[in-house]
Amino acid sequence: MQPVNDLLSFPLIFLVLALSGATLFIYFSLTGPLAHIPGPFYTKFTGVVLFINIFRGKRHVYLTSLHAKYGPTVRINPREVSVVDSESVKQVFKTFLKPVFYEYLTAEPTPSVFTTTDPLYHAKLRKLLGSGMSESSLKSLQPVVQSKVDLLMSGLRKERDEKGFMDLYKWNHFYATDVIAELSFGQSFETLENGKDHQYVQDIQALVPYNILRVTVTGRPHKETKDWPIWPFTAMEKINVRLLDHAQSALNRYRHHLVQSDNPRPNFFDKIMGEKGHEAAINEDELVSNAKLYLVAGTDTLALPLTYLFYALLKSPRVRARLLQEIKLAELPQQPTNDQLRAITYLDCVIDESLRLYPPIVGPLPRVVPGGGRMLGKCFVPQGTTANPFTYLLQRNPEIFQDPETWNPDRWESATKEMKEAMWPFGGGSRICMGRHLARMEMRMAVVAFLRNFETAEVAYGVEGFAPEDMEVVDTILGKPVAEKLLVR
Ligand code: HEM
Repeated sequence: MQPVNDLLSFPLIFLVLALSGATLFIYFSLTGPLAHIPGPFYTKFTGVVLFINIFRGKRHVYLTSLHAKYGPTVRINPREVSVVDSESVKQVFKTFLKPVFYEYLTAEPTPSVFTTTDPLYHAKLRKLLGSGMSESSLKSLQPVVQSKVDLLMSGLRKERDEKGFMDLYKWNHFYATDVIAELSFGQSFETLENGKDHQYVQDIQALVPYNILRVTVTGRPHKETKDWPIWPFTAMEKINVRLLDHAQSALNRYRHHLVQSDNPRPNFFDKIMGEKGHEAAINEDELVSNAKLYLVAGTDTLALPLTYLFYALLKSPRVRARLLQEIKLAELPQQPTNDQLRAITYLDCVIDESLRLYPPIVGPLPRVVPGGGRMLGKCFVPQGTTANPFTYLLQRNPEIFQDPETWNPDRWESATKEMKEAMWPFGGGSRICMGRHLARMEMRMAVVAFLRNFETAEVAYGVEGFAPEDMEVVDTILGKPVAEKLLVR
């Protein structure tokens, strides 16, 4: 028989170890590198409340409440801060690098221009790929966009004739998808013709929650989890292979078209892909990785602000009447050029105001604080900390934007320096959005075509239960309307 003392000692040792562990954890958390930064007490130990809010699509609401209580620099978990003042946001975008989180976000074996964290490789890719999306290349891309705008208008008209209303959220998504599919893969997905999503897009949509789950729960890149013999890793790897196959065969077909045709269809990569005996400036893996990235980077980012723009415009008869009048005064041809549209300055005010209130990327865009640490606002933030510029809130700062919750394009006619410096819908610094010129052109063309084709359209409240609450933003990294529809008749 064991002595009673021996039996007691086991739980006792366990208790002592647990208590010492907890004491050490609390001590290090309380004295940790971010302990001096304002923020809720629990964020010294855990990011669980942030995580719950991300899961609920309420991160933007949660962060807004933290900044209201704790000021412009806030600790949001033991390793991260959120910043919201103009100077700090500028500093972060201009001088900090992306964290490894970006490389983990996708399942791509070759990093793309968006996911790479290596500044030299990024600069090389940007130089190589940038020309395909520069302002000067828009002229050659415009016919592709124009053909999709025409299909968008006929798709909308057909749906309204058949059902009595049209879903602008759905059709904007199709529009953006077909433009980018054709410009990236050399071939449209024809979602505008078919009125439904392509398998490729459905696969991407299935992967998004998986990738977020993988990064947040396992903290590992796809290459380390892809062979785990359990669901969801097995299922997701199958989807990845399907996406890769599609991208490779589409690009091969496009390369063949480049060689065969004297007047090839334009594409983001046509100058660097290797045509008619010229060596390609970009290798096969890089090409596939970046084409796949474009399809994610350039679709809902465009469709969402366009959807909110239409919503705001239809609810504001004054702005709509003025914009329509300016369009009529411009005496545009049936298919106006981007330069003719850009000359309607009020159109760009409408676009800017929509990007201010409804930036598609609501979530913070993380960066790493460089060696030596930096002052962000009034706080010293040590090196290695993840700093998140929360531009969604900066773009609603009442000290910069009068009556900030009101959608009022007129404010951009007399924009102050502070207003311009507080606008970051396309990010900033060396990682600023590469598709921003194209995105603006797509928006201009779609808005003008819509107003000319549907002069009397109105929001269809009540149809299929559609209500103002359905347009509330839910933060899924992208800011989407909660009901994922915008019904208009
Ligand atoms: C209104 C529409 C759009 C908005 C608001 C938008 C916004 C953004 C933002 C905020 C970033 C920076 C992300 C970060 O710093 O982590 C970004 C990057 C990027 N966007 Fe866009 N985007 C839009 C449309 C497009 C389109 C149409 C394309 C075309 C394919 C595109 C391609 C890219 C690329 C390639 C990057 C990565 C740039 C880099 O890291 O160097 N975007 N975009």
